[in-house]
Amino acid sequence: MERDIEKILLTQEQIQNRIRELGEILTAEYADKNPVIVGVLKGVVVFYADMVRQIQVPCQMDFMWLSSYGGVNSTGKMVVRQDVTADIAGRHVLILEDIYDTGNSLTYTVAHLKAKNPASLKICTLLDKPERRKPGVTLKADYVGFTIPNAFVVGYGLDYNEQYRNLPFIGILKPEVYEK
Ligand code: IMP
Ligand code: MG
Repeated sequence: MERDIEKILLTQEQIQNRIRELGEILTAEYADKNPVIVGVLKGVVVFYADMVRQIQVPCQMDFMWLSSYGGVNSTGKMVVRQDVTADIAGRHVLILEDIYDTGNSLTYTVAHLKAKNPASLKICTLLDKPERRKPGVTLKADYVGFTIPNAFVVGYGLDYNEQYRNLPFIGILKPEVYEK
């Protein structure tokens, strides 16, 4: 696995340090709000597990699973494979995402959850790749772990063809891996 990595972009230590910093901010933000923390599957699972343990307030954990359909070249059309199970009307909701890339996924998620009338809705994404944003996407992530350059990254939950999610760091894949 590791020999397919061109370069380590973020080490385990860098990731954990940043999660601790975000955890302090989110702990203060959500004290007494009993938030519903919604993870967007599957890429978020590793970040989610580490992040929720640094948000030291009573909270509820929930998940959404989205798929894009339209074949290999994603059309950006999304479908909810699994919805949140909590009734989030009137609740404070925090979305956790792995990466804010073109914005298709987050735009869809936000619209979908807003329609359920939460008291508040905020976004925390581990990675932000602003150079990849689709024109017209104006959403701002409220909390960002790291802003990264326009490269395809894997590890710490992020995949290429469902592989590499279990790498403990975030790395850039060697181009020859795509070309295989
Ligand atoms: P979107 O383009 O912002 O809708 O991102 C959709 C999804 O694409 C993310 O939630 C990730 O699962 C995946 N994705 C985007 N960029 C990368 C990357 O660099 N590596 C791995 N997965 C990515
Ligand atoms: Mg993915």
